[in-house]
Amino acid sequence: MKKKLWAGRFDKAMAKEVERFTASISFDKRLFRYDIEGSLAHVAMLARSGLISKADATALRRGLKKVRDELANGTYKPDAGYEDIHMAVESRLKKHVGPVADKLHTARSRNDQVALDTRLFVRGEIGEIDGGINALQRAIVRCAWRYRDLVMPGFTHLQHAQPVLFAHHCLAYVEMLQRDRERLSDCYRRADCMPLGAGALAGSTLPIDRRYVAGLLGFKTVSRNSIDAVSDRDFIVEFLAAIALIGIHLSRMAEEIVLWVSREFSYMEIDLSYLSGSSLMPQKANPDVAELVRGKSGRLMGDLVALLTVLKGVPLAYNRDFQEDKEPLFDAVDTVRGCLAIMAGLWGRIGMRRNVVEKALWGDYSQATDLAEYLVARGCPFRKAHEIVGKLVKRCIRERMALEEITLDVLRAASDKFDSDALSILQHHTGVKRKRSLGSTSPREVMKELRSWRKKLGLVTA
Ligand code: ARG
Repeated sequence: MKKKLWAGRFDKAMAKEVERFTASISFDKRLFRYDIEGSLAHVAMLARSGLISKADATALRRGLKKVRDELANGTYKPDAGYEDIHMAVESRLKKHVGPVADKLHTARSRNDQVALDTRLFVRGEIGEIDGGINALQRAIVRCAWRYRDLVMPGFTHLQHAQPVLFAHHCLAYVEMLQRDRERLSDCYRRADCMPLGAGALAGSTLPIDRRYVAGLLGFKTVSRNSIDAVSDRDFIVEFLAAIALIGIHLSRMAEEIVLWVSREFSYMEIDLSYLSGSSLMPQKANPDVAELVRGKSGRLMGDLVALLTVLKGVPLAYNRDFQEDKEPLFDAVDTVRGCLAIMAGLWGRIGMRRNVVEKALWGDYSQATDLAEYLVARGCPFRKAHEIVGKLVKRCIRERMALEEITLDVLRAASDKFDSDALSILQHHTGVKRKRSLGSTSPREVMKELRSWRKKLGLVTA
């Protein structure tokens, strides 16, 4: 282990096991770009405020860029012997530029430094994850567009409820994902606050210019309380909560895919390149991708709960506990990005089995609600209409008739308000077409939404 940069008051070396136990370099090294970006802005500010000379700033800038390149191309591997990425970068810098490196940490603590790095990281990842959701939305909308005229059973309680357009079902997912994007951008607003200059917790006696640093790093705001600045991890909690909810959405979607490719449903097929075989059963082709996405959502919830639990009961201001924020954060980011990308790939490899889906509607009585509304439109109170159609369904079940095959006589036996035009409602497609409310599954509404999503997601020009 190298000599500690903070060892002035120590006349004893740190015990090996303590070094090992407290080090975070093995995982926080992935922050190096942000760490150096932050240091470059800090250097510019120190020079501008007259705290270091222009020549010092030039040397530090050159050295920092060199360390960044070395870390990027792997010629410098900081694993062994450093506590964390901040120490590793500064020590390496000193190796390149000599004693002037000792000026870099002026008016700065690792407490505000790590808060800055993490905010930069979160801001960057929000953009990446947003892009991943966007790509998934595009894949879903493409699939919806391909099958835009397909009518399928809509479910409640996993029982056939009312017929809907497959595209309408798909767009429900697109809406969910859009809310995820909104949550991320809301989360960005609070991550977008610059903590550097808070020092360890109390600020600095030196004439630093925090707004200047914020400007250089593109932060919208500057933290207003130095104690809060170094102890706030809310922005990570929010981010992990947004990610956990993305995970839940992906998991629900994955579950439906698993269900729909099952032999019992057979609504959907997945291209063989996205299925896995069995080591024992020669006939198998399993939807492991969707299952793993469903499984990984558990990790995402775990990451959120892990961080919440770390923060609970931690006093102000910085405490070393906070170092435990990084592994859940990194894990959540990597996991959700992987899940989003593979789900986009999966949606591009889905085929709907039109015949099976349409056949599934036959005899399911899911036109009943539309029949009841037919009666309401002819002046029958809804509860009454509900009862009339309920009795009609009961009769059909008893006589083993599908609603699609009953005659006008049977309808009129149920209510004399039924006229011959009611017969067309017995076709599932008609019920879908007759919907008129805003946001309903009517082809007009769905096409309007499909078109607007295609435009919004850049799938069509103009
Ligand atoms: N590695 C620490 C973290 O991730 C930052 C260093 C602050 N350490 C300290 N002893 N004040 O939180």
